[in-house]
Amino acid sequence: MMARESTIENERLEMALLLEAIYQKYGYDFRSYSKAHTRRRLEHRLNMAGMENYSEMIHAAIYDEDFFNELLLDLSINVTEMFRDPWFYRAIRKEVIPHLMTYPFIKVWHAGCSAGQEVYSMSILLAEEGMKDRAQVYATDFNELILQKAKQGIYPIDAIREYTTNYQKAGGKVSFSDYYTADYDNVVIKQSLRERVLFSSHNLVTDGVFGEMNVIFCRNVLIYFDRELQNKVLRLFYESLCPGGFLCLGSKENIKFTEVVDDFELVAAKERIYRKKRRP
Ligand SMILES: C[S@@+](CC[C@H](N)C(=O)[O-])C[C@H]1O[C@@H](n2cnc3c(N)ncnc32)[C@H](O)[C@@H]1O
Repeated sequence: MMARESTIENERLEMALLLEAIYQKYGYDFRSYSKAHTRRRLEHRLNMAGMENYSEMIHAAIYDEDFFNELLLDLSINVTEMFRDPWFYRAIRKEVIPHLMTYPFIKVWHAGCSAGQEVYSMSILLAEEGMKDRAQVYATDFNELILQKAKQGIYPIDAIREYTTNYQKAGGKVSFSDYYTADYDNVVIKQSLRERVLFSSHNLVTDGVFGEMNVIFCRNVLIYFDRELQNKVLRLFYESLCPGGFLCLGSKENIKFTEVVDDFELVAAKERIYRKKRRP
């Protein structure tokens, strides 16, 4: 084997051992995340930490929990915003809400909810469509630190201008400032938007089905998984949805080449909204 090839092969092996160590020590399973994504994130942490190689990182990940928590944040990517892709929320109002209105009670699951912005965006929408009190919302993520932030619903005031524009583009009905109170450099999401939401830890790779959902949001999460893991998680969503339930993915994700392609009908192509087929 050429020297360069052998270096790449050794590096690949060290990375695999690092992911194995993380799984065995902490139970977080990144072994089936997309290789390109994982390499980029690990390289970033290697440079930031001034480490020589991944073997050094294995040691730090095992013995230094603070270092591991940083690594976890790197690997999980928590980027999010309120009313992200406003046109997506317009489609929810137009294509999904009218169906949900026919139910006396609905269950909504946000899988990979990050710091909660997506959850509160949907809570606002449910409130504006008169459905909030008929909904039970589950918001899950595997990262405990980010989940704590989601529960608090506190966001930097600097982000509010962008959130307000998104809200208006998403067809917002009132002034966005009705939904938060300002507190120095932060805003706090109003309690009324939080009362129907249950936040809990759930790992899409290792945990099971969440029962009888009417809508599942899993936006900008599957993009980090390899094809096999995407299939596994999409199957989990299929089993968690009631017949006719809706699945909402991120703008760069779709079910086209996956094993569930025949189990869902397309509701909105650009917005990546699908509906579980009712079997005869
Ligand atoms: C890029 S954020 C997306 C947040 C939000 N859904 C959105 O679209 O704005 C991805 C989230 O998925 C979570 N995540 C990644 N892998 C996960 C897993 N195996 N189980 C549960 N959550 C996971 C991360 O912690 C992160 O908060």
